[in-house]
Amino acid sequence: MAADTPSVSKRRLPSWSRRHGTTLNRPRTAGTRGLILDRPTTKYHQNYCGTAVPVMDIWWMSFSSRKSVLLKTATGNMLQLLLSPQYGDHEFEWIKVYGPVYRIKGCLGDRLMVSDPMALQYIVNSPSFHFTRNVQAMLHWLFGEKSMIARRGDDHKQLRAFLNPAFAAAAVRRYQPVFARVAQRITEQLESREAHLVDMCPLLNDAALSAISQAVFGCPVEDLGADFVEGNSQVVELTSAQSASQILFDGIGSLLPAWFLSNAVHLPIKTFSLLRTQLHLANREGWRLVREKSEAAKQGLETDGDLYSVLLNSDRSASRALREEDIVAQTALITIAGQDTSAKTLSFGLIELAKNPQFQESLRTEIHAAFGTDHENIPYDSMPLLNAFIKEILRLYPVVAYIDRVALEDVVIPVSESIVTTAGKRLNQIHIRKGELVSIAIASYQRMASRWGDDADKFRPTRWLDGTVYQGEAVGPYANLFSFLGGPRTCLGWRFASVFISVS
Ligand code: HEM
Repeated sequence: MAADTPSVSKRRLPSWSRRHGTTLNRPRTAGTRGLILDRPTTKYHQNYCGTAVPVMDIWWMSFSSRKSVLLKTATGNMLQLLLSPQYGDHEFEWIKVYGPVYRIKGCLGDRLMVSDPMALQYIVNSPSFHFTRNVQAMLHWLFGEKSMIARRGDDHKQLRAFLNPAFAAAAVRRYQPVFARVAQRITEQLESREAHLVDMCPLLNDAALSAISQAVFGCPVEDLGADFVEGNSQVVELTSAQSASQILFDGIGSLLPAWFLSNAVHLPIKTFSLLRTQLHLANREGWRLVREKSEAAKQGLETDGDLYSVLLNSDRSASRALREEDIVAQTALITIAGQDTSAKTLSFGLIELAKNPQFQESLRTEIHAAFGTDHENIPYDSMPLLNAFIKEILRLYPVVAYIDRVALEDVVIPVSESIVTTAGKRLNQIHIRKGELVSIAIASYQRMASRWGDDADKFRPTRWLDGTVYQGEAVGPYANLFSFLGGPRTCLGWRFASVFISVS
């Protein structure tokens, strides 16, 4: 078992956990309260191993020293940022020393790490910032140029407007029974295992893909084909891997011209071959699903209410309406963006439950009470501890720890706290030059003492209940968190993910 996975042992599952299947036994209460997560016995390495969007634009440590840096420059570099034993070992110290805006060294120029909430809000909502050329190419390779994340401007806005209703709160609530069945299956798998310790990560990955397959595509994951499922896992693994050579490779990539980057995927290299094959399989499956559903609709057959059926049955008569190929083109994006992110968030949740048995017990009691006798209509929204727990996990462990954007023009961004430059000057806004690289430091923002309190580094879900979390203007779509980003490119599946996590 990998050292960073929550370990579980099983004995007997009472009915409530048959649906939830994530808690396992601990000898002191065995047999009476179901399965309880053990304290992890190994030292785990809390690397942010999953990213919805692969971090392509990672720069090799720089030997350049731009003397004219305006803001304080941390002594850090990309190796420290990305390859520390635990994510944030350096970054969370830098923010304490240098504040919420500082520079670190990158290849051929510094990068600005930004965690100031006002600046973040500005960046994600401003058309002056976009993906770097590297990331843009990577999005094309992984998801195709017609995927929503690869589109720009009005094209992106329009597609998003078509897809949004299918991811709205009411629509997502309809998938609750699907998620419950998936959770039930994990439970059964755990029950059937003889092993005392179980590696939960693969189980949670399978569960997340299964939930997406049933809720979005309306079919069991097996129908997508073993080659597609296996390829998806390999791509997810590839995109979340970090190493010094990967950092170097990405740094070199950032120097290459756009025409080369967009064609590089056709090079006869194993990695590119995997990406090409997987995108082909996703499109093949997407077309199969769309054709089958359209055919069923023509014959007047009832569909399962899955997301693709909802989209196909929406009013598509207008001239610029959602076309079948637009739906198909989201298949790779939704499976990759949705699977690993949700599974990793759940894994971090299990680790914290294992480390905090008392909280685990209180959460269990709340769940028992909410389940009562009606197992169909569980009021997930009215479970304070469960909701506080999910928010705290998303806050402490945003699986996309930071996101890069490049300034498309000279721009001035506001900050909520003034910044002192290396020359001792106080600034209330930051001047960014065209072409400058800015990192949206999500993980840092979510540990800022000024925002979350002096115990920001600690797992303390009750902060969401005792009124100590910041109550001011909202950033991000959920709980003042940036885990799902914010602005026009906010994660499309954030409600989907939070309901899936609640039910699981
Ligand atoms: C805990 C789970 C999740 C987290 C933390 C997460 C996080 C994110 C983030 C940070 C982005 C913005 C990336 C960028 O612009 O650079 C994003 C985009 C996106 N996510 Fe998620 N995500 C999660 C689950 C999901 C799920 C379950 C789905 C679909 C079922 C999904 C679909 C998408 C899509 C389609 C986009 C692109 C949005 C656009 O470009 O307008 N995500 N996600």
